[in-house]
Amino acid sequence: MADLSVVVDGLKLPNPFVIGSGPPGTNANVIGKAFDENWGAVICKTVSLDASKVVNVAPRYARMRAQGTKEVIGWQNIELISDRSFEVWEDEFKKIKDKYPDRILIASIMEEYNKEAWIEIVERCQACGVDAFELNFSCPHGMPERKMGAAMGQDPELLEEVCGWVNGAATIPVWAKMTPNITHIEDPARSALKAGCEGIAAINTILSVMGVNLETLRPEPTVEGHSVPGGYSCKAVRPIALRMVMELATMMYGKGDGDEKNEGEYMDRSLSAIGGVETGDDAAQFILLGASTVQVCTGVMIHGYKMAGRMCEELSAFMDKHDFKTIEEFRGHSLKYFTTHMDLVQRQKDAKAEKKAAKEGMVTKDTAWEGDKFVEQSNKLVANDD
Ligand SMILES: Cc1cc2nc3c(=O)[nH]c(=O)nc-3n(C[C@H](O)[C@H](O)[C@H](O)COP(=O)(O)O)c2cc1C
Repeated sequence: MADLSVVVDGLKLPNPFVIGSGPPGTNANVIGKAFDENWGAVICKTVSLDASKVVNVAPRYARMRAQGTKEVIGWQNIELISDRSFEVWEDEFKKIKDKYPDRILIASIMEEYNKEAWIEIVERCQACGVDAFELNFSCPHGMPERKMGAAMGQDPELLEEVCGWVNGAATIPVWAKMTPNITHIEDPARSALKAGCEGIAAINTILSVMGVNLETLRPEPTVEGHSVPGGYSCKAVRPIALRMVMELATMMYGKGDGDEKNEGEYMDRSLSAIGGVETGDDAAQFILLGASTVQVCTGVMIHGYKMAGRMCEELSAFMDKHDFKTIEEFRGHSLKYFTTHMDLVQRQKDAKAEKKAAKEGMVTKDTAWEGDKFVEQSNKLVANDD
C-alpha cells in the first residue's frame, strides 16, 4: 500500500486531502467530524474580527445538474464568510486543538485593508493553537464591496503589503488563497510569495451568473426577486482549476524536468490545489501538476465527510498501479509535458518524417540497425550512387 502522508511547510498530514474553507469547516462539530473521518487537515470557514458586519441571505446556493440526470456538476453560492463571532471561534479553535492535538487545523482569515486588524487576527488565532493560516484574498462576492477578498487578491501591490503585515506577525506557515477571477493568476501569487508566504492555495470560486428563471424572468438564486453574481464551484470548474494550478506550479517550480536551469522562482514553497475534486483520480491529476495537498469543499456538501476514505483508496490504487511509493515521487511529474503550440507542430512534423523513413526502411536512429539487413540498410542511406 502506498504512503499517502505528506509533510508540507513542516506540517505533517496523514493524507493530502484537506477540507477547503466553507460550510464543511464551519464550526467545531463538523471540524471534529472531518478529523474523525481521517481528513488530512481542515481549513475552517473564513473568520474575521467583526462578524456583525456579515449578513447572509437565503437561498444562497444554486445548482447545475448534468442534463437528464441528478448528477450535480456545478454549484453557485452567494454565501459570505463566517457570521459567527470571533470570540466563539477562539473558544472552538482551542477546544478542537485540545481534542485533536496531532491533527492540522488551518485558520482561514480575512480582514479589511487595516494593518492593526490583520495583526490582531493573526495573533489571536495563533494564541488558540491553530497550525497555519490561509489568507482569503479570493471571495468573489459580497466582501469586495468592503474591499476585502477578491478585491485584494486582484491587486498584487495591495496583496503584497497585506501579506507583509501577516508574515511580520505570523510564527506559523501562511498560505495565500488566490482568486481565479483575474487574467494572470501568477501575478498576485508571486506577490504573496515575495512577501514571505510559505504557500499558495488556488482556486476560489469563479464569478458567475447561474441562470435566469424563464417563468419569473428573475436571475437565480433569487432573494426578494433580485440576485447578485456568485461563486461557481464543483466538478465543472476542475479544468479551469487544473490550468491555473499548472500555471502557478510552472511559475513556482519550473518545468519539473530535473534540469536546474529550468527550475522555477519558488522551489521551496507549497501549492494547495482546489476546484471540483471528488475522487482520488481528480486529486492525482492536481498532484501530477505540482500540488502537495488537495482541498475539497463542494464535494463534501454533496457526498459527505466519508468521501475521504474512498478518495484515499482511489489515490492509493493509482499510486500502486504506477508503482509510486510516496506523493512526492509523482508530484509535478506532468508539468514537463506542457509546451508551446509551435513545438507541438514541430513534434508532429518530426514524428511524420520518422514514420515515413521507417516505412521506407531508412535508419533514422542507431537502435534500428539490424545484423541481417545491415548492407541493405546502408544502401538505403546513400544519397547518390554514381
Ligand atoms: C458554499 C460555499 C462557501 C464557501 N465559503 C468560503 C469561505 O468562507 N472562504 C474561502 O476561502 N472559500 C470559500 N469557498 C470556496 C471553496 O473553499 C473553494 O475554493 C471553491 O468552492 C472551489 O472548490 P470546490 O469545487 O471543491 O468547492 C466556499 C465555497 C462554497 C461552495
